[in-house]
Amino acid sequence: MLSSLYHDDLPVTIGILGGGQLAKMSAQAAYRMGLRVATIEPSEASPAGVMTKLDFTEGWLNPSEIERFTEVSDIITLENEFIAPEILDSIAERRLVLPSPETLRLVQDKFIQKQTMQRAGIPVPVFAAIDSVEEAYAFGSNYGYPYVMKTRTLGYDGYGNATVGRDNQAMVAFKRFTSDPDVPRQMMAEQFVKFRKELAVMVARNRRGETVTYPCVETVQENHICRYVLAPAPGVSADIRQKAQEMALAAVEAIEGVGVFGVELFLTEQDELLYNEIAPRPHNSGHYTIEGCYTSQFENHIRAICNLPLGSADLIAPAAVMANLLGKRIGSGVPDTVVGLMRHGRVSLHLYGKATSRVGRKMGHLTALGVSVEEALARVKAAEEDLMW
Ligand SMILES: Nc1ncnc2c1ncn2[C@@H]1O[C@H](COP(=O)(O)OP(=O)(O)O)[C@@H](O)[C@H]1O
Ligand SMILES: [Mg+2]
Repeated sequence: MLSSLYHDDLPVTIGILGGGQLAKMSAQAAYRMGLRVATIEPSEASPAGVMTKLDFTEGWLNPSEIERFTEVSDIITLENEFIAPEILDSIAERRLVLPSPETLRLVQDKFIQKQTMQRAGIPVPVFAAIDSVEEAYAFGSNYGYPYVMKTRTLGYDGYGNATVGRDNQAMVAFKRFTSDPDVPRQMMAEQFVKFRKELAVMVARNRRGETVTYPCVETVQENHICRYVLAPAPGVSADIRQKAQEMALAAVEAIEGVGVFGVELFLTEQDELLYNEIAPRPHNSGHYTIEGCYTSQFENHIRAICNLPLGSADLIAPAAVMANLLGKRIGSGVPDTVVGLMRHGRVSLHLYGKATSRVGRKMGHLTALGVSVEEALARVKAAEEDLMW
């Protein structure tokens, strides 16, 4: 029996809510461990769904489809934190869901998330809930402009954010975000952080509370979307990198997270660390761990939810760099040819197999290792130049 290979209550089929690239790379790790995977995503051709016979293509808004998906899954996890808490609760009545619905409730609303972290003693930017245009003005007059207005829920890749420079912009942004009667949105405001760098740390935590913490990396965003991840974060002292790891671990413990978590941090011009947000799942800033670390974030996610010992999060080379391949236009979404790239023998290519693309959509990524971040970055940049879109 498969389960006795590991331990007697090892889940054999991991159900993943979602079917995108994070589900796909989690599935690849699960398959390598001899496990099976079920996916649920409203698409006939999702990146993870096409890998398994247990693909539920009606999606989780369809109750009977959830029923069938839950039935075949021994344990359930997710690749996306935007699933309604009531749906998670109903699944959790029948199967173990990890991270738990309680953890997700603390994360899904960025305002509640920041309050939770602040109460745990983690430094956060000044923030407040904004429930009216008057409150939006008040935040500006109390803490100054510019500030960042954010939707409390459902924001990603910067889509729920606006930087407002004065009262008028605050009003326009507030009205724009809250004008759709079908999608009621609550808002929050946050002091604008003048950061020197954005950092991120992945943490895995299993059901026994054992943890491993990955290296502190730098994420480089362009137009609010991550372009490069540099590991370990260059130009940041070992002391700060360690503090970032400690802060990330504290954040995961504050929400009693089980699974793998990505913690985003700001490093200010004064070299202070401020918490930005947490992703309760594998994260783009951890893709480099597939080639770069002894155990990838995806494998440690599967190990953590299955309550297995966690693998080492150490880098296997002095440095690793990941570059996202972002869609250039609406259409098929892959480069015209990757043959040129393949001449770069030390660069690993991942294409997610998404059916369609749009500008800025994450279609794949490249990873290179090196003796230094500069060397690894030069490798991925040279390879990117040989991709024809
Ligand atoms: N308080 C802030 N001050 C300055 N920049 C910010 C602030 N909050 C977010 N940003 C910028 O916007 C990006 C996206 O914001 P984030 O809150 O992480 O939302 P998302 O859920 O879209 O990733 C961040 O990576 C950072 O570049
Ligand atoms: Mg973010």
